[in-house]
Amino acid sequence: MRLTSENSIGIFDSGIGGTSIWKEIHQLLPEESTIYLSDSKHAPYGQKSIDRIIELSIKNTEFLLERECKLIVVACNTATTNAISYLREHYKVPFIGIEPAIKPASLQTKTNKIGILATKGTLNSKLFETTSNSLKNNVEIIEQVGEGLVELIENGNLHSKKMTTLLSKYLEKLMSQHIDHLVLGCTHYPYLIPQIKEITNNKITIIDSGLAVAKQTKRILEKHQLINNSNSSRSNQFYINTKTNILDQVIEKNHSVKIDYLDF
Ligand code: DGL
Repeated sequence: MRLTSENSIGIFDSGIGGTSIWKEIHQLLPEESTIYLSDSKHAPYGQKSIDRIIELSIKNTEFLLERECKLIVVACNTATTNAISYLREHYKVPFIGIEPAIKPASLQTKTNKIGILATKGTLNSKLFETTSNSLKNNVEIIEQVGEGLVELIENGNLHSKKMTTLLSKYLEKLMSQHIDHLVLGCTHYPYLIPQIKEITNNKITIIDSGLAVAKQTKRILEKHQLINNSNSSRSNQFYINTKTNILDQVIEKNHSVKIDYLDF
């Protein structure tokens, strides 16, 4: 298959979290067509075995390749940290991943303590361990598994009492350790930023990698001469495999996207 610049950028996540990355990509590269795959039926990935995360990542990759995507963004920290090296070894298409931005946070911290909220799968991964070990010695990383947060978001309980209670519990634990930066290590969590700011009284700097991923996507497209400069029509197609209206809740009306349910 010969990929041309008119082909779509493929994006996948275990659910709707990767739409936070899609928004950054769409804003930076509005001339590109995109296909977003929300594997909500299998969310959360965070508690699954490495083999299962790789298996699901292969399925998602093949789904996007069948639709002739020219580049694939793994818009999921859990899938990136556990499966991207496998994907890069087995498929020719360029892959962009997302990892928790602990490096920039470690360079900015004044208290030398940074918090990270992520899934168990991300925090236990080899890639996360390698990145953590490469930081300055005097910076302490306080890890917190965000257990239950992805499920609440996927079930449409983003603004619920349950969410406030769970999120407060995790943030209070982190704040008691005097962190001054909080790294969001899951693409679902940017949707929690207003609540995080409220709970922490705006006292913590929140670090999220969405824009960095979009910029890297642009660089890689340029490198492979795959930026879409044609005048052909663009489309933004979303696929989801659970019957819910959660995508409608997170994608603002001004974005012209087509959402389809497919059982995959
Ligand atoms: N959005 C995924 C991530 O960035 C959620 C993980 C999950 O499904 O547990 O890690």
